[in-house]
Amino acid sequence: MATTAPPLPLEKTVAKMALRGSVGNAGDQKDPLPLDDGNMLAGVNAYKAHCAVCHGAPGQPRTAISKGMFPPPPQLFEKEDMVTDDPEGVTYWKLTHGIRLSGMPGFGGTLSDTHRWQLTMLVAHADKLSPAVQAALSH
Ligand code: HEC
Repeated sequence: MATTAPPLPLEKTVAKMALRGSVGNAGDQKDPLPLDDGNMLAGVNAYKAHCAVCHGAPGQPRTAISKGMFPPPPQLFEKEDMVTDDPEGVTYWKLTHGIRLSGMPGFGGTLSDTHRWQLTMLVAHADKLSPAVQAALSH
């Protein structure tokens, strides 16, 4: 059960099936906030405070914490790990409830609905950041 060991047989399949079951139809929920730089920049502030240590930021080296985790935290601003194709409601569900046995915390009891939707907006548009948002995220 070392975090450094490769996945156990069926571990990924079972984890994915269990997660899909829990998320249910949360994917139908839409971000109630207007898509603008104000909300995206608020998302950047919250992201740097609560997420970047695991999920990284453009142009920043991966942290020792992130490198030592299993499963590895997806790097949400790197093309191959982006959640830009996931329904916003699913991403919102994940950061509200967390993902058991993975290290992904649930923020439903600690961050406001508004902050969680701003974070959802940010990671859902990771491939379409304005220059201002890009700059705020990388510094
Ligand atoms: C302590 C490390 C850690 C922190 C802090 C953290 N996460 Fe995660 N997160 C993870 C891990 C690990 C996973 C992968 C879970 C898995 O593979 O099932 C994950 C998964 C996710 C996913 C799902 C990605 C996908 O491909 O389905 C999203 C979205 C996410 N995190 C967003 C956030 C946001 C937003 C924050 C900050 C509010 C945050 N996380 C904070 C470790 C972390």
